[in-house]
Amino acid sequence: MTDEQNTTAPPAQTSPRPELQEDEQVELTVDGQLIRVPQGTPIYDAIIGMGKTIPSMCYHYTFSPFGSCGICLVEVEGKKAPVRSCSSNVAPGMVVRTGTPALWQSQKKAVERHLSTHPLDCPVCDADGRCELQDMSFSFGISEVKNVKQKGIPEDRRSLVLDFNMNRCILCGQCINACKEVQQVDALQFLKKGGFTHVVAKGDTALYCEFCGDCLAVCPVGAITNKFAKYLYKPWQLVSTETACGYCGDGCELTIDAKEQEVIRVRSSLSWKSKWGTKEDTLGGHGGICVKGRFGFQHINSKQRLSQPLLRRGRHHEPVSWWEATDEVARRLGDLKAQHGPDAIAGLVSARLTNEELYLFQKFMRAVIGTNQFDSTARYGQINFTRALQTALGRPRLMNSYEELTVATTILVIGSDITEANPITALRVKEAMRHYQSKVIVVNPVKTKMAALATHHFAIRPGAEGAFLHGVVRALLARQLVDPAFAEANPDLLTALRGAAAGSSDETLTRATGLEPSAFEAVAALLAQGPRTILLCGEGLLKQAGGHEHALTLIELAGLCGALTRPGGGVMALQEENNEQGVIDFGATPEYLPGPVPVADPAARLRAGALWQSEIPSSPGATLTEILERARSGAIKALYLIGENPLETLPASMRVAEALERVELLICQELFMTETAKRAHVILPACSAAEKTGTFTNHEGQYRPVARALEPMSESRPDWEIFEEIGGKMAPDFLYGSVEEIQDEIGRLVPGFPKVPLPRRLDGPPRFTPDHTSTVASRYRTPRPEPVKEGTLTLELIPILYHSGKLSLQAEGLTTIFPKGRLGLSPPDAERIGAATGAVVRLTPASTDQPQVEVEVEVHPSLPAGLCHFPEHFTASGVKDVVTAAVDAVTGVPYFKRGEVSISLVTPAPAPTATAVTSDSAPTAGGQATAQEGAAS
Ligand code: SF4
Ligand code: SF4
Ligand code: SF4
Ligand code: FES
Repeated sequence: MTDEQNTTAPPAQTSPRPELQEDEQVELTVDGQLIRVPQGTPIYDAIIGMGKTIPSMCYHYTFSPFGSCGICLVEVEGKKAPVRSCSSNVAPGMVVRTGTPALWQSQKKAVERHLSTHPLDCPVCDADGRCELQDMSFSFGISEVKNVKQKGIPEDRRSLVLDFNMNRCILCGQCINACKEVQQVDALQFLKKGGFTHVVAKGDTALYCEFCGDCLAVCPVGAITNKFAKYLYKPWQLVSTETACGYCGDGCELTIDAKEQEVIRVRSSLSWKSKWGTKEDTLGGHGGICVKGRFGFQHINSKQRLSQPLLRRGRHHEPVSWWEATDEVARRLGDLKAQHGPDAIAGLVSARLTNEELYLFQKFMRAVIGTNQFDSTARYGQINFTRALQTALGRPRLMNSYEELTVATTILVIGSDITEANPITALRVKEAMRHYQSKVIVVNPVKTKMAALATHHFAIRPGAEGAFLHGVVRALLARQLVDPAFAEANPDLLTALRGAAAGSSDETLTRATGLEPSAFEAVAALLAQGPRTILLCGEGLLKQAGGHEHALTLIELAGLCGALTRPGGGVMALQEENNEQGVIDFGATPEYLPGPVPVADPAARLRAGALWQSEIPSSPGATLTEILERARSGAIKALYLIGENPLETLPASMRVAEALERVELLICQELFMTETAKRAHVILPACSAAEKTGTFTNHEGQYRPVARALEPMSESRPDWEIFEEIGGKMAPDFLYGSVEEIQDEIGRLVPGFPKVPLPRRLDGPPRFTPDHTSTVASRYRTPRPEPVKEGTLTLELIPILYHSGKLSLQAEGLTTIFPKGRLGLSPPDAERIGAATGAVVRLTPASTDQPQVEVEVEVHPSLPAGLCHFPEHFTASGVKDVVTAAVDAVTGVPYFKRGEVSISLVTPAPAPTATAVTSDSAPTAGGQATAQEGAAS
């Protein structure tokens, strides 16, 4: 396999790069004021850029103008008729007038025209109270509608989560253009049928797409509606709360609309109400959210939620009061500590808690229990990046802002199917291509959605990320493209790298990656070219065998190519869970105290100890796998799990069940009765992110406020309150009355919290540590991966767009869209065993210790032969148990997302029927008609 240069052209240039914007300026006069704007700017943008607003209905600054509504009219000297400002560009010397009485009359007529074909069914319309046509009618004082013509089109209810009522459509085209240009999914089109123009899914079928809901968000009327919210409310019944999404590390802001303690819908800040901006404002993000944020809220009001504390009595759990439950926990933890010492107690915490809760949890473990023996889901991969930064640069934290990502000139995406795992960060990358003409290099065995859009896709062999990085480092050195500032600051590292490069060969790297040497040279040249190069990595790099070493090499590569020296460049890890960065920053790992500062640092321990009036243990504590091992051995007597469900998450080979059975006290703090919780001695009902306050930290390092939209359901409580109650019973001064009190205390350890984010940039050129240099020889010795055995496939457990961990499996919106996991198989592999989509195959692992599993197949054209995928969220299928776990010797990260299997057909596919959406069903961009083209046809 050689490198694959995409034939898909990047989107048309709509604006120059920021550094070029000073060129080709045009002078014009607007309402008597002389202004200068770049050539090619729509008149509308020029006017908005002056701080004025102009009535409009079909324009939104985040995508191209459609020019259909006829409302954004201006007068241009020399033109007889008013001009649509959104679809006409400025010209030198142009004289423009806005808001004249004549314009007002023309605009009013345009609104009346729209009203005359609109059903006026406001009482039963979801957009009532949030309808731009209502607002426009009101502002133009329209009191009667003449020449009414009703369309009588039946509602299109074919889509899984959206309904299309074309009687209400004003043909503004915004839904189509948002989908085509912002999402670059291009799932919608205009279609003439029955004498009217409709918005339909491409091909006039049921809509299968990414279900981001941006089309719903920008629709200025009620033509697109949310199936889950429809007819459930009138706007005045809703209480709206702006908060942060609790699913992924992108950390989007969203609005929860609740009615009488029930979430009715989730909205984004993207809407027709946010239309006033210019193209350059897209630098601040388009304001949308993804399918999980918008449709994944039903777990909050789920009837399956744990409603009160439970204590195990014999074989059953019995409801008890909070007082009794926390008494039991405090008493038994105290007894075990007194009897066996603090290291008889361990904890595991989810990266979905708030920063304040993570802080309080680690303080409880360190200052009240007296142990560093606790870990979190950041151990599944993010810690590899953190520890690599620490080793390489002596600091655990480095990232770029979303704005920097949007204007980066070159972006490398390695080990991440970014559209699936981090969809809104993916939109930044898409925007970088669309608007700033960035070069985007995707390194992935699969032709992912982003790979299909990218300027460059390198389809490496599965697991060859590390070897790919070696190849690029080697090419940078060979072509003398090393950043001079890096070379000057790191002479020893450079010498070590030159030595390592001399020891490898083109043949070895080609064998490992499947790429020709020219591919490495091309990437090296692109990365070194700058000026703003950003390297992004994800689960495919950090959660796979060798993840820590690969992270070291990626950071090294960022240094070598100048990304760490030049402003706006950098390297960062994408996080799947919403607060993995918070875990690191607020000390919820055994190796870091809040700050984050290493526990090994005596001064840091003294500082925290003085604040907490406690001696902080200096022992290295234990990582997730060590905790399980010690529990199995009987050394750990009590295990406190907060939002963690290791029985269902980890493969059977990690022997979680044995560990859980062995402990004397298992405490589960959870939203739902998980398989792990069923074995607990004490179950404490926690509440969701929608029922508490605090902050999350997203993967650009920003604190996102979490606001309470609902009162805690039943007797559930925020995690921090539970820690406080148990801690308060064990240590008299572990008392907090509010989240603000916790924040005040954190602020004394982490300066500026929660107002000023922690630094995320290096000061000056990167200086790699001698410890880092000492890893070069071993890292560059043997490029992975080992070849798979004849007749076997590489199985990867992957994140998908429609789910996040297991929380999303409790959200009806998401299970409607993606109800079950199926094994993604490439067409050649499917053909070889005679399996079509819907067939059942048997997976036989390479090791006889692992079980065989039968699973349904879905043929994915994007997968290469030899690779099969399964969504990691669907663990009940048993596919996770087919994979053996290997533990990173340095970071303790358990690698259990990739294995080797052979497959055989069990049951052929049934005759084809309508299916639910699949990860490959969502249309990708390319070659489809724009709103204008579609409407015109
Ligand atoms: S991907 Fe689907 S939900 Fe999102 S804008 Fe396109 S059609 Fe609408
Ligand atoms: S359905 Fe699309 S074209 Fe119709 S009014 Fe809504 S956004 Fe505009
Ligand atoms: S899941 Fe991630 S991308 Fe989606 S809305 Fe939530 S934070 Fe944003
Ligand atoms: S906003 Fe310009 S024509 Fe609609």
